[in-house]
Amino acid sequence: MDQHDEHDNIEDISSNNSGNRPFSDVLSVNMQRRKLLKAGAGIAGGSLLGFTGAAQADTLSRALFGFNEPLIGFQPVTLAQGASPAPAISPDYEYKVILKWGDPILNGGPAFSLPMTPDKQAQQIGIGHDGMWYFPILNPTAFRSRFGWDDLQDTNPWLSGTLEDNAYGNTRGVMCFNCEFGTNYHVLRKDLPESLDDVRVSQHAHGVTVVRIRNNNGNWEIENSTLNRRIHVNTPVEFSGPAAGHDQLQNNAMNPYLGTVNNCAHGVTPWGTYLTCEENFNGYFGTEDPNWTPNSSQNRLGINSGGFGYGWHLFDPRFDLANPNYANECNRFGWVVEIDPLTPNAKPIKRTALGRKKNECATVHVSADGRAVVYMGDDQRFDYVYKFVSAEPWREMRDSGESPLDRGTLYVARFNDDGTGSWIELSMENTDIASNFVNLGAMMIMTRYAADLAGATPMDRPEWVTVAPDGRVYLACTNNSQRTDRGIISSGGRMVDSGPNAANPQAPNGDGHIVRWIETHGHSGTKFEWDIFKFASDTHGTEESFADPDGLWADPDGRLFIETDGGQKDGLQNQLLVADPATGEIRRLFTGVPGCEITGLTVTPDRKTMFINVQHPGDGDPAVSPWPAPVGSSDVPRDAMVVIRRKDNGVVGS
Ligand code: FEO
Ligand code: CA
Ligand code: CA
Repeated sequence: MDQHDEHDNIEDISSNNSGNRPFSDVLSVNMQRRKLLKAGAGIAGGSLLGFTGAAQADTLSRALFGFNEPLIGFQPVTLAQGASPAPAISPDYEYKVILKWGDPILNGGPAFSLPMTPDKQAQQIGIGHDGMWYFPILNPTAFRSRFGWDDLQDTNPWLSGTLEDNAYGNTRGVMCFNCEFGTNYHVLRKDLPESLDDVRVSQHAHGVTVVRIRNNNGNWEIENSTLNRRIHVNTPVEFSGPAAGHDQLQNNAMNPYLGTVNNCAHGVTPWGTYLTCEENFNGYFGTEDPNWTPNSSQNRLGINSGGFGYGWHLFDPRFDLANPNYANECNRFGWVVEIDPLTPNAKPIKRTALGRKKNECATVHVSADGRAVVYMGDDQRFDYVYKFVSAEPWREMRDSGESPLDRGTLYVARFNDDGTGSWIELSMENTDIASNFVNLGAMMIMTRYAADLAGATPMDRPEWVTVAPDGRVYLACTNNSQRTDRGIISSGGRMVDSGPNAANPQAPNGDGHIVRWIETHGHSGTKFEWDIFKFASDTHGTEESFADPDGLWADPDGRLFIETDGGQKDGLQNQLLVADPATGEIRRLFTGVPGCEITGLTVTPDRKTMFINVQHPGDGDPAVSPWPAPVGSSDVPRDAMVVIRRKDNGVVGS
């Protein structure tokens, strides 16, 4: 999420006052350090989905991208083409727009029109399309009976099936996508709500959208289904894990647990559920009470009286920080939330063992020893990278009726100057930090504080994490304009600069970089070796130009897809690029429109169809971009999904 100004947006004000600066001599670090990882070290883990076998990948790579050697042989969008106010795509590809903000989630539902009403918006696609996952229906027989789900036992109808069934999943699936945010100006066409109804419209525009879709002769359409649903800020949810039922989640108001907000990137579990990550939740709280001041826990998460200007607290006391009845409401946000797309009546579950922070993503990887490993970025200047490792192999935990996301160990990353790294345990077993917390639940509610105490490495805004087929883990550090060579500087109790460190050597880092590492003892281990894959600044002035990397996805052939969110150089709009990690070459596949962010990425099993998102086109202002209305229209822009296909595979979506 980047609201307003890409580099100085309000939510990116650091709230880390820990003083963590674990390198004694960081100023001598070579800024362009390019230590090569030992090839093959520690490669471990299984593929998450069932279609990543080498032989199959050989066929599939031709299917979507058309090339085995080189990996990225398509004709790129040039710098000149990528500066257009309309989207541009490689001449080898074509695209269509689907699933726009305000489209009804059921055919026959209320059509998009402004002004919105709370009731309409709750029956329509939300705004701020971000992380997502296409769950292919690979076994239609099982699916239809919903369907023999219990009879299938270990067989997951999303992720297995015969080849014949696979063909079905290439054209039919369930799309889960995050609706991260829409400003009041965008959604309400006014800067502040004037009623509780206005607040409800805004709240219903946020959250997650789940819709069954199918490819109907080249057009991806919503299919009416009981699975189609909106999860928003007022949807009942539940808590699990160490903080569930904790005092610090209780309110005098005794209100039920409700809602998820600012859902940024995502994860997908091997048992077929969707993870949605609550990022900048702080911005939705506020108060008019001049006597209210944040406590240290709130301060560390940037919770303040002004918020981001949504003004929900003006009409909804749940978001009024000074209302004693809702004193702990803000502790109910900042979590990774699990959604079962197959069970529409199931409440989303906030998995507290994964910690509370501004979660960017929750990328799940299965380690060689069968554990669920979840990589998470905490997107703020000078904040950290985390991973969670389930206590036991995920299948065994599921078999015993336990969620693999409820019991395990949370770690935070320390990147050492010499190219090694370690994962530091955040638990009551860590005697360096345990005495500061009454129990593990309290530690999870104040995850950032635990990580501060543990000596984690302050990063340049950790965004998406992806695990490549060779086992390498890639992390986008989007930018950090406030890091300087001066070192630790704080203002008003907040760190504004931790100084450079080896993994974040640029000071300032206006355009971001991509860090990668190998888990030298497997993905469930605690040691890694890292290097920097790419500094965005090195690409400027070339046809590979990009800045502010955010979304990342490594495909089963090893291509690295990079999506951007921020002020691009060389006149470019925000964009989708594809890198060959072996050579470092980058090509541009798609560019968006002024004011937008390109984010979200998922594919059909045959990888002939790719879905990405165009978030906040025009920043909500038709004068900047009315997309997907044509350039020059005065229509209000609408966040939407884009379907991408190779032209030589026939028409889009065929
Ligand atoms: Fe929602 Fe950090 O991007
Ligand atoms: Ca992001
Ligand atoms: Ca971003």
